[in-house]
Amino acid sequence: MSIKAIKGTKDILPWESPLWHHVETVCREVFSSAFYQEIRTPVFEKTELFARGIGEFSDIVSKEMYTFQDKGGEWLTLRPEYTASVIRSYIQHHYEQQSPLHKLWYVGPLFRQERPQAGRLRQFHQFGIELIGSEYPEADAEVITLACEIYQKVGLREWELHINSIGNTKDRLRYIQLLAESLKPHFDAFCPVCRKRFDINILRLFDCKNKSCQKLLDDHAPKITDHLSPEDNAHFEQVCKLLDVQGITYTINPKLVRGLDYYTRTTFEIKGKQLGAQDALCGGGRYDNLVEELGGKSTPAVGFAAGVERLILALEAEKIADVPASRPDLYIATLDVESYQGILKTCTTLRHQGFVIETDLLRRSVKAMMRDANKKQAQYVTVIGPEELESGTLTLKNLQTGETSQIAWNELGKALGKERHTL
Ligand code: HAM
Repeated sequence: MSIKAIKGTKDILPWESPLWHHVETVCREVFSSAFYQEIRTPVFEKTELFARGIGEFSDIVSKEMYTFQDKGGEWLTLRPEYTASVIRSYIQHHYEQQSPLHKLWYVGPLFRQERPQAGRLRQFHQFGIELIGSEYPEADAEVITLACEIYQKVGLREWELHINSIGNTKDRLRYIQLLAESLKPHFDAFCPVCRKRFDINILRLFDCKNKSCQKLLDDHAPKITDHLSPEDNAHFEQVCKLLDVQGITYTINPKLVRGLDYYTRTTFEIKGKQLGAQDALCGGGRYDNLVEELGGKSTPAVGFAAGVERLILALEAEKIADVPASRPDLYIATLDVESYQGILKTCTTLRHQGFVIETDLLRRSVKAMMRDANKKQAQYVTVIGPEELESGTLTLKNLQTGETSQIAWNELGKALGKERHTL
């Protein structure tokens, strides 16, 4: 039996690549336009980094990490997210000595052993940013704005921004106590998963998709936003104001606590209305304690990460996934091996000039090569045999208009250049 890809992993097929390139190009443009620099970190790190960074009791660390011992006996983990790795790099390479503020972006694969379903994979991809060094609401607003800009720029229509503040760690501990006291009388009415989460991390109750659990929370859970310190409140109001002045619409969602332990103050998510149960297109927030927790100097930070596969699913659902594929500027059909040899130098020169040149490598008949050129939607086609090589002229046919012209070999670049299409 042939070997198949592992459950929860997916090939990005050649005909799917143009859409991936489109998404990655938009990210690169949006992030670079705000002067973010790209960072690439290793795919695996010491397990301890994620355990300390994300939190021992988070779903990711307790259930979902791909962890293994290498031959030297060291515990390693395939990265389940970027933030901890980026902060590890920040601390290790003393970024703070270069400048007080760092704006970084990334894109790449991540690994979580979750139950695969639509929009939830075991190897998936994220793009995202981490803004390290500013405690001010301007930083939160910039990060949220850039996340929104990506979805606007790729042309996605049906998405909405949810924001919240979960305050500082001290206030949150007080809130967690209050939450536990308020919900204890209703313990038996919660689903088994929520009942388990009661003691481990009661904030996770807000993630439950069960409608009756959500109703219990609506009826009995105090709102975290009613228990913020005056400073945290002022910070959150300013973030909202900065979004307002840009005309960015949002819903304040006091249940948005997020599943990773490092968050402080602002949290946010963008949800795709066209997605099913896995509707979070992206998520992020402020994490002012993480740098210090991972061994660096106390440094505030804020960021977000977004699932590429979920964005692609959303684009497909809105039928805006049709990104034109690359096509040849010129298809050179050759009649025999000598002719193929004869065109090679010209072929390389034209490719160096930026033209996309396709040739036949299957020694096909002229008819089959013409079919191939049409299938690949080549702009021009030319058939080269001993005659063309000897005379130094060739016939160039525009496959769109059917027009043909006789030109000299050395005029090829000019002829193609006249109608160079950029895709
Ligand atoms: P996260 O909410 O775990 O946050 O993941 C961010 C996004 O990654 C999700 O909204 C979703 O689009 C995508 N995603 C997560 N898990 C999967 C999966 N199994 N399959 C497909 N897509 C998935 C973080 O990772 C934080 N590091 C975000 C952050 C950056 N916070 C501050 N800075």
